[in-house]
Amino acid sequence: MLDALELLPDDPILGLAALCRTDDNPKKVDLTVGIYMDENGVCPVFDAIRQAQTTLVAKEVSKAYLSPAGVAGFNPGMQKLVLGENSAALADGRVSSIQAPGGCGALRIGAEIIQAASPGAKVWVSDPTWPVHIPLLGSVGLQFSTYRYYDAQTHGVNFDAMVEDLKAAGPNDIVLLHGCCHNPCGADLSQEQWSIIGDMAEAQGFMPFIDIAYQGLGDGLDEDAAGLRQLAERLPEMIIAASCSKNMGLYRERTGCTMFLCRDKKNADALLSQAKVAARRVYSMPPAHGALLASAVLADDDLTANWQAELRGMCDRINGLRSDLVEKLQTATGRDFEFIRAEKGMFSFLGLSGEQVQTLRDDYSVYMLGSSRINVAGVNARNIDYLADSIAKVL
Ligand SMILES: Cc1ncc(COP(=O)(O)O)c(C=O)c1O
Repeated sequence: MLDALELLPDDPILGLAALCRTDDNPKKVDLTVGIYMDENGVCPVFDAIRQAQTTLVAKEVSKAYLSPAGVAGFNPGMQKLVLGENSAALADGRVSSIQAPGGCGALRIGAEIIQAASPGAKVWVSDPTWPVHIPLLGSVGLQFSTYRYYDAQTHGVNFDAMVEDLKAAGPNDIVLLHGCCHNPCGADLSQEQWSIIGDMAEAQGFMPFIDIAYQGLGDGLDEDAAGLRQLAERLPEMIIAASCSKNMGLYRERTGCTMFLCRDKKNADALLSQAKVAARRVYSMPPAHGALLASAVLADDDLTANWQAELRGMCDRINGLRSDLVEKLQTATGRDFEFIRAEKGMFSFLGLSGEQVQTLRDDYSVYMLGSSRINVAGVNARNIDYLADSIAKVL
């Protein structure tokens, strides 16, 4: 039976990162996987997380199972972080949430709930979107349509086309939106545009499903959640998948959260019960370590301040790198790269052809995705000149 299964190729993003690791060119530049890297090319452990971990290791007395809902304290902390301290939806008690294994697990639990509520429902995804969205949501049986989103000519959101396409989204449809720092293009909706999407959701009855994996890495924790919060205040139903991978550096600890905004508390409780059953049938309960650390940081004022200051530093560094990259690329190539400055978060499409990307990889050991998506956080003072010069050469 098993011998009928064939060897599959590596995941395109992880496979490229692995290829880069084997490249012995000392000048190689890794702009592939979406992890934050500091000036030394290291994906750091936040100081607040390290402190919480020291305390946890000293005090932990048991590794007994968690409940399928996760660590007590984690869910309320995440709800406030994402929806805001003053959220009316939270005050009304119409929100419930479940800890999940990373943002991926959170998306999967959201998909399980949608499938339970409306089997085979249609999910509208942006063109382009993070490539994992389709297999992750599709494996439970959901169907897809795309809405136009990124305009390669203007290097920005083609909002008119997005609205045009979403006019066809009906009351049983789901619209998947990137909460901030769009992956892969870095082009985000303005607050006015979020408001128009809210008008459409109200008028047409579709439900937003918001993937927020980069809160705090675009403009700031509150700013990055502002669009999502607008919708949460006015729409009766919404699902949010949040991740602590990037903004708390908990990547390998698999720490995320699915939130359900419902019409009332009764329905929010029902959805939590459904999510717990969904978790039980997929993985039973989420891993504890990351959520224990995240909840310890979110529950302590000093640790929260320490974490937020470090996150602010990362956000400022990314935005500084964007400006530096614009200057260096414009000087090296004589072309306009101003769009990189306006984008948010870790990603940008450079607008190179597949052939140019391949030449950068083969001849210069500069690694980016075939679409020319780069992880801006992989740029640093040591590689920026080499990167800009290499790009100029392939252009
Ligand atoms: C858009 C988007 N959503 C969700 C995730 C999930 O992240 P994780 O499962 O590592 O928390 C990622 C990770 O790269 C992402 O880019």
